[in-house]
Amino acid sequence: MQLIHSVTALRDRLSAESRVAFVPTMGNLHEGHLDLVRHARTRGECVVVSIFVNPLQFGPNEDFDKYPRTLVADCAKLEGLADVVFAPDVEGMYPEKQTVYVEVPEIASQLCGEFRPGHFRGMATVVLKLLNLVQPQVAIFGKKDYQQLAIIRQMVNQFNLPIDIVGAETVRAADGLALSSRNQYLSDTERTEATTLSRILRDVQNRLLAGVRDYVELEAQAKKALSDRGWQVEYVTVRNPSDLGAPTVTDRQWVVLAAARLGKTRLIDNLEVCL
Ligand code: PAJ
Repeated sequence: MQLIHSVTALRDRLSAESRVAFVPTMGNLHEGHLDLVRHARTRGECVVVSIFVNPLQFGPNEDFDKYPRTLVADCAKLEGLADVVFAPDVEGMYPEKQTVYVEVPEIASQLCGEFRPGHFRGMATVVLKLLNLVQPQVAIFGKKDYQQLAIIRQMVNQFNLPIDIVGAETVRAADGLALSSRNQYLSDTERTEATTLSRILRDVQNRLLAGVRDYVELEAQAKKALSDRGWQVEYVTVRNPSDLGAPTVTDRQWVVLAAARLGKTRLIDNLEVCL
């Protein structure tokens, strides 16, 4: 496995590769990330993982400075799984001030976009840059960040990038909590409580499967259940999985998405439901 920091060295290393599978990350890798990397191995001859905490996608009051940076431990985890780790510094990714951005679609201003203005614009811009640098045939993203995946799919389709975008299932802890680098911000008691988020999503799933179609009421009950336990809820919503639009009563597939804060930690999760 080769650790590469510079854009020129990356281009040199990948110039002769014809079947690259790429997993972009911000590092602090956990089993969720590693699952994407294992998936990449089944899809490409050369597996590239990027590790870059992208300042463009963090708001002024967000955790960019304290986001965990653990490159040595990350490389140890990737040994034997990846062929190339691309870990540029901020100057390498942004040698000049970024003045050109991806203009993200309407769905980017909803859900997480409503609470993190500019986040998806910064995310899409760095993902486009990374895809241009790595030029993979396949790129793998987690469904854990469902809205992110939907925006990336639209960007790749509409910009005609010749890249197969693969969505991988969310990897969870035994108690149901979706793995996330931000889980380590949780205190012991918060970590125990955190499992409520996936449980509430499963409750909504069960009601959908039982025939309930009053989405407004479903959402209101789920939000109340969380806020009664001390969560600050941003949203719990039932959407159409294809475009994240509002579902109709005749739909047979949904995705239930939620974002809520437990103390200072913001957690997101979602569940696909299919009749
Ligand atoms: P990061 O949060 O590090 O996540 C990198 C990839 O891992 C994303 O595709 C994310 O959906 C996936 N992932 C995270 N937790 C997961 C889990 N529990 N199960 C399965 N997959 C999981 O997402 C980003 O970084 C950034 O926005 C990035 C795309 C790298 C652009 O900066």
